Parts: sequence; structure tokens; C-alpha cells
Amino acid sequence: MRFPRRIRPFAMVLLCAGMACTPVLAAPALMPQPVQYLPQEGALPLAGGVQVQWQGVRSPLLERAVARFEQRLAALSARPAVAGTPAGLVLRINCQHADPDMLSIHMREHYQLRTGTNGAALVADGPAGVLRGLATLLQLVEPGEAGPVLDGAEIDDSPRFAWRGMLVDVSRHFMSPAALERQLDMMELTKLNVLHLHLSDGQGFRVESRVYPRLQQVASHGEYYTQQQVRDLVAHAADRGIRVVPEFDAPGHSYAMLLAYPQYAAQPVTAPLDPKRVVRAAFDPTNPDTYVFLARLYHEMAGLFPDAYFHVGGDEVRPDEWTANPRISAFMQQHGYASATAMQAAFTRRVQAIVAHEGKTMMGWDELLDAPASPGIVIEPWRGSRYTAQATAAGHPVVVSAGYYLDLLLPAAEHYRVDPLDPLGNGLPPDQVAAAHAPALAPFALDPAASMTTAQDGLVLGAEAALWTEIVSEEMLDARLWPRAAALAERFWSPAAVRDEAALARRLPVVQAELEILGNRAAADRHRMMARLAPDGLAPLATLLAVTTPVRNYALNHVFGPSHVAAASIPLALDRVADIATPDSFEAAAFTRDVAAYVDGQHDLAPGLRARLENWRDNDARLRQVVATRPALREALPASGQLAELACVGLYALDGTLAAHQVQVAAVLQAAQAQFAASESMLAVRNSPQPAGDLLQAITPAIAGLVQGHM
Ligand code: ACM
Repeated sequence: MRFPRRIRPFAMVLLCAGMACTPVLAAPALMPQPVQYLPQEGALPLAGGVQVQWQGVRSPLLERAVARFEQRLAALSARPAVAGTPAGLVLRINCQHADPDMLSIHMREHYQLRTGTNGAALVADGPAGVLRGLATLLQLVEPGEAGPVLDGAEIDDSPRFAWRGMLVDVSRHFMSPAALERQLDMMELTKLNVLHLHLSDGQGFRVESRVYPRLQQVASHGEYYTQQQVRDLVAHAADRGIRVVPEFDAPGHSYAMLLAYPQYAAQPVTAPLDPKRVVRAAFDPTNPDTYVFLARLYHEMAGLFPDAYFHVGGDEVRPDEWTANPRISAFMQQHGYASATAMQAAFTRRVQAIVAHEGKTMMGWDELLDAPASPGIVIEPWRGSRYTAQATAAGHPVVVSAGYYLDLLLPAAEHYRVDPLDPLGNGLPPDQVAAAHAPALAPFALDPAASMTTAQDGLVLGAEAALWTEIVSEEMLDARLWPRAAALAERFWSPAAVRDEAALARRLPVVQAELEILGNRAAADRHRMMARLAPDGLAPLATLLAVTTPVRNYALNHVFGPSHVAAASIPLALDRVADIATPDSFEAAAFTRDVAAYVDGQHDLAPGLRARLENWRDNDARLRQVVATRPALREALPASGQLAELACVGLYALDGTLAAHQVQVAAVLQAAQAQFAASESMLAVRNSPQPAGDLLQAITPAIAGLVQGHM
């Protein structure tokens, strides 16, 4: 399909920061891309308010959705939302069914949307469809030359997967209710529909328990959700057509619970928090009281979280946590449990009975497959897609998070490339299959040995983007989740054939800018973090961080390999430059596009490229001045110097003086490329020192392209 060529001044301003560069987009940035989208001639100026004409079902939930829509439309079109202003937009909503399956995996999300000079008509199968259609409608707002307009379109849309989740780990770092509500708003805008909350792990238990109050008293550092806050959060989500699935991880990852109730621990658990024990502590599976504790706790929590699914974790149990305890080891021998895996399978059966007693469907990580498990259990593969194949072969429904771990700090495209059903590439051209199996994702990688039948595909309920927060504070949350979660929202919603990474890259900055207008704090929080590091000279730091990205594949966590830093019992400050840098550099992406066009013969782009290169070259001296009084910034200097060197190489290429600097050019490029290689996989991270400041130069491929004269 061809879109009308049109320039979007909004997107240009956004990307170019005052410098000459090419327009980036010629169609509305719809994300997720609808199943069917026909652009129509005729855009509607958005001058006044909204007049809604209801047909079919009308409910308080839908009225609140429309009120949110009006506010958001006003924000996006930069005008006040004043009730009673003449209607600029007539919006006809026809919700055809009340949908008894609302907020289940069967909820009706299909909608049809038609926009044009007469207004907008939204027909939906159910309330969830209305919500999804309103999200699309907002993405059809364009700046227009004479003010904001609603683009003409004809859309017929429904999701590919029923379960489109986002996991937020609130144990490693607590996230306030306001931060989570903000994420729910972003999820609504991108059609994600499950918030999976990892509420309990080694570092903290995060829900008020009235049955076991020591959980919040001893194991939360005072940071937990009251029961009322949980109810409010669940209601906020429900209003947006989003389910909340709680996870209380056991038998491993349970140090916090066991700190509060050490009588259920397999090995002694003591305060203060012991960093070596925090990842190991596990429940004692041989103590009958363990199951009484879990049954009473899960009963209380199941009452707080109304969703039909209940996640019990089950990942990463350390066998010697059990086998090194003589009493547990004797019990295992006596009862014929030959291994910790067999012991865990018995534990899982007990827990499943507890969850079933609550009328819920149990969900757990792929370790539950290590021993035969009841096929009713929903498996969440995280260690690799082979577990998707293995789980579905055994009849388990599956929600895939392998390939979607946002804390690996990979760029959006690398996650986007991974399809939930794609153990064999699923129709990808061979070169892209190779890319999808790149070592960057190992051991979360797709497994070429796995393959699935259509029946197995049908068991894949969907997928989840996952953010583990060992090194993510609340202030970093929005930038670590977005816009990459929006790219995954598309992967989980849109047809499998939607996989054009260049189109993704062009839309991402526009979508992110819209999300920020509507409440996302990524840019604002990064700005505050930069201002704290460089209160008297933020601009040079911002220039550096706009084109550098953090090292990948857990190199920034410094938990293994040559850059290992001993785990601290005091949480890290998380105020380093690499904590502010983002996995996707929009500025580098725009520069790379321009370089590609330039080496392809578009030579009028030279002045714009030169201006950017000179700015990066000269930025180093400016940053050095700031660092003179801000020693915390010193670790950014090597990256800043390297950016200047890369910029010089780019300028040599533009000037035609590469030959005179051959040795320098080769050394600068090689150094920058080697730094990418040092964190291209977890294996590489184990074996390679990381660059000073933990920063990668995102313009490296573009500079290499300028040097080689092709991309
Ligand atoms: C996990 O990442 N341990 C589920």
C-alpha cells in the first residue's frame, strides 16, 4: 500500500532539533499497525470540541473512555478541552455488544473506524473494541499546515494475540501507584492489555497482607501497595481494558517473604539483606506449614486481584538450596524424589491445587516444564523459544516473554524481529532468519531446532514485554519501557507480516512524542537526571547522550565478567550517564538514514550532515568544561572524546580527505565497533571488558557507511 506523500512538520521539528535534515514520515504513525488501513482523501480540521453520538451499548466505562479521549485529543492538537465549544469532531460510537467476556482473554477488541471530513465513525464488537478504536483515532491526529487535523482513514482492526502484556518488576525497585497508572495509560494508547506485576522477589514483597503483616513490615522497606491502592490500580486498568496479573514467586526468588517468615525457609535467612543469599533463598518444600502459608497468602491475594490467571513464578530454584540441607535431602531420599527438579514438581502440584482452589488458572515460568506438569498450567517461556515449542507440544497454553526482555537494553528493532510463533523464522527470508537468531539474544534466542504445528501455534495466547528492575529506578521507568514497549505492542497486535524495521524506526519517535504529550515521562525524567549531573551545563551532556546508548545484554548490571562489581547490599545510586542513555537513539537513526541517502547520491544532504558532525566534534570541549566542576561526569569523557573522533572521521569522508588519515580512521572505527562486539551477547559480556562509562556510539554504523561510501 502506498501512502500519500506529505511532510509532517511535527515529526521534523522533533527529530532535527533545529538542524537541517530530511522529512521522516509521510503517513500517520499508527502503532500497532491496523490489520486493514486505507488512507482516505480529506482531513478534518480539529478546531472545536467533540460531539459524541451514541448507538448501541453505552456505559460508565465507555463514558469515562470518551472523556479521556477528549482530554487527549485536546492535548495532542494543542488546544484547551472546553466543554460546550462548538464541535469540530462529530464522533459516532456504536458499541454492538456489552461483552460478558470483557477483561478476559476472550474480550472483544475488534473495531472498525472511518474518518473523514464528516467526522469519525467507530463500530466495535464490545467495549474493549471501542477503547482500541479510540487509541487509533488519537494516532490519526496530524499537525497539519494550518493547525491540527484528523487524517482520513478506513480501518478494520483486531489483534493477532489475545494476551499482549507488559511485565514490570516492582520488587527489585518499587514503582509508585502513580508510575504504574501512567504505564497503564501508555498501554491503553498502544493496545497492550495485560499488566503482569512481579510483586515479590528477593528484594521486596510489595502488597499489604493483613494475614501475614510481617510481609510489608519486614520485607518491603516501607514500599508496598496498600490493599486499597491495589484495588484502585486494578480499577484504573479495568477502565482501560487492561487485566492485571499478579505474580508471587515461589519456591525460589523468595528471600523477602522468608526474611519475614524464616520458619518456611530451606536454609537460614537473616537480616540485613545478604546479597549472596538474595538470589538463592527458597521455601522448604518438605515443611507442611509452607503450604499452609502459601494457601492463606494466595487466598488473600487472589481476592485482591480479580483476574482469572495467577502467576506463581517457579523460576531459577538453586538445587543445593534444598540438597545441601541434610533434613531436606533425607526427606527427598525417603520419598523418592531423585532430584531437586522432582522435588519442585511435587511443590508445583501442591501449589496448583492451592491456586485451583481459588478458582484461578495457574501460570509459571518455563522451569515448570523441567518435570512433567499438568497441562492446564500456563507456561511463560523466558529462557528461549524452544520452551514455547516444548510447552505447546505438551498441551500447555503459553505466554511468551523469551526475546522480549527490555532490561537487556537492546534496541527496539531487535525485539521487534522476534515473533512469538517464530522458532523457525515462520516465513522470514533467510537473511532475516539469521538476524533473528543473532547471538545478541542468546540464551533468550530463538531456537532453530524448535518447530511448531498449527495446533501448537493456537496454544500461544500471546506475549509479554518484560522489564526486570535490578538497575531501573522509578525515575528511569518510562525511558526503559518506552518506546520499545510500543514496538512490541505492534509485534503482539499486528499481523505477523508487519515487520518492516525501517518503517518502525520512522514511526517510533513520533509515537514516543505523542506518548510524552499524553503523560509519558521518559524525556522529562532523563532531563532531570541530566540536570542533577550537570546543573550548570546540561546541553553538552544532552548532546552526548542523544547519540550514545548503554552497553547491552546485562553488561550494565556488572554482575558477571571482567567488569564484575560485587553485589552491594545498598542499592546502586542509578545516576550514571549510562543510566540516562537509551537503547534507541532517534538522532543517530535519523543521521544514519541521511547518510544512507547521501552515499546513495543525495548530495544536497551534505551541509546537514556536516553541521551535525561539527556539533559532535566540538561538543567534547564543551563537556570538558562542565566536567571540570562536576567530577561525577568524568566517566563520560572517554565516550565524549570518542564521539568527537568519530565525527572527525565523518568529516574526513565528507571532505574527501580520508586517505590522509587512513590509520586514524581505521583505529577509531575499529575501537567503536569492538565496543559493540563486547556486549553483543551475554557470552561476550562475560569475556570482554566494557567501554569506559558503559556507553556505545550509536552513529558508528553511519560513520562506517560514510567511510565505505555505501551502506
Ligand atoms: C526470570 O527471568 N527469572 C523469569
